[in-house]
Amino acid sequence: MPRKKKMKILNAVSEVVPFLATGGMGQVSGALSSTLAETDKSLDVRVVAPLYAKFRDKYEPQMKFLGATEVTLAWRSLYCGVYELSHEGVTYYFIDNRRYFDRENAYGYVDDGERFAFFCKAVFAMIEISKWVPDVIHAHDWQSALVPIYLKTHFYEKYGAIRTVFTIHNMEYQGQMPGYILHDIFDLCEDTKAIVWYDNCINLMKGAIVCCDKLTTVSPSYAEEIQSTGGYGLEPIIRENAYKLSGIINGIDTITYNPETDPLLGKNTYTSENLKGKAANKRKLQKFFNLPVAPRKMLICIVSRLVSHKGIDLITYMLDDLLKLDVQFLLLGTGEHAYELFFEEKSVSNPEKVAVSIAFNPEIAGMIYAGADVLLMPSRSEPCGLAQMIACRYGTIPIIRKTGGLGDTIIDCRLGSGNGFVFEDYTAQALMDTVNAALDLYTYHTGDWTNLVKAAMNVDFSWDSSAKEYSDLYRSLEA
Ligand code: GLC
Repeated sequence: MPRKKKMKILNAVSEVVPFLATGGMGQVSGALSSTLAETDKSLDVRVVAPLYAKFRDKYEPQMKFLGATEVTLAWRSLYCGVYELSHEGVTYYFIDNRRYFDRENAYGYVDDGERFAFFCKAVFAMIEISKWVPDVIHAHDWQSALVPIYLKTHFYEKYGAIRTVFTIHNMEYQGQMPGYILHDIFDLCEDTKAIVWYDNCINLMKGAIVCCDKLTTVSPSYAEEIQSTGGYGLEPIIRENAYKLSGIINGIDTITYNPETDPLLGKNTYTSENLKGKAANKRKLQKFFNLPVAPRKMLICIVSRLVSHKGIDLITYMLDDLLKLDVQFLLLGTGEHAYELFFEEKSVSNPEKVAVSIAFNPEIAGMIYAGADVLLMPSRSEPCGLAQMIACRYGTIPIIRKTGGLGDTIIDCRLGSGNGFVFEDYTAQALMDTVNAALDLYTYHTGDWTNLVKAAMNVDFSWDSSAKEYSDLYRSLEA
């Protein structure tokens, strides 16, 4: 029998692990690609991303230069180099343009619109240079939203057979830009303005939603929410395109996040059968943060960007009450300055109970997942959320607000069997009540708490079943 031809999938994404991740999208694009490469031999999965200064030096020796060309963006003619690198069964293409990508951070610049318009155009240049023409391009969030758009407006004649999937990781960031840069920056004209035009400005995410063949978001609940009230203004567009929408829950990389083998834990690795190492990690964490070493004090943590939709305002309302309890509180994150100050002040006035690190630091985050008892995630909205799954894997019990993917991954243990604590009302009181319930179980029912820890650790959050859903979705687009 003739072997079936592999289906070619190209992820176009602005960040991808192990090269760069500033948030969940980078973790997801990396883990999804490597899981598919490993588990589904009928697919040829590749990734295209910008070549950022952050990892250029480290990986350059392993990269192969494929070629260079000029990419045009309105009146500009821009250098575009293409490099190739193979890592764990996945081929990565990197787009080189130092003016756009040799910067301290991935995003946050006045010309972000131009930088990612260039990247999206360069994806087609990369296809030309590599001569590897994908069957499906899978684009992620506003930074690669112009890929499905340009496919329709600029490259249809040549590449019209390519199908597109667009994944929304977060509706909050839509790539909204002023109308006067339509032509000058985005190389779109009056005739195509309607594709990206929404609410009196350019909205790149809206354009991708309209142009893509399949639309996904990162949890089934979020797929519902963005049609009703959680769409940050795009609800009507999502509803019109709901026929092609599905919610596929993210997984986590269970090989990296494994308390049995995690090199970050040194000799204190552990399993759900033997939790001694977890106690050692708690001791180490308390010492590291100059908190009293107290094995039986519930250590409540937050690892989060400090922005209000993560529920940080609720924490500020209830923290004084929380500190009246016999607990310790630890926070790691960066974000809005007012929140950073608030928590730093609390740690100064309560050194015995509060420790704060204003940083984005995956290693400290790893220490916290391993050493803490409880992780708070009281988000106002959360497309999927990864921290609650990582916490479970390390036996740290999440307390979450039921929204988006949080509600799809964490089941309240008070319902019988579960892997965390869940509250619904977005109020400081509801959060406080739930913390009290957790503290009660932790203090007075230690056997039940240990069983909860074990149950949380044994939930399967691997990518296996979700990767299969993506693979089925790609297949549904086969000609
Ligand atoms: C975004 C979302 C987060 C999700 C991640 C990966 O960062 O805010 O909820 O887990 O993308 O899809």
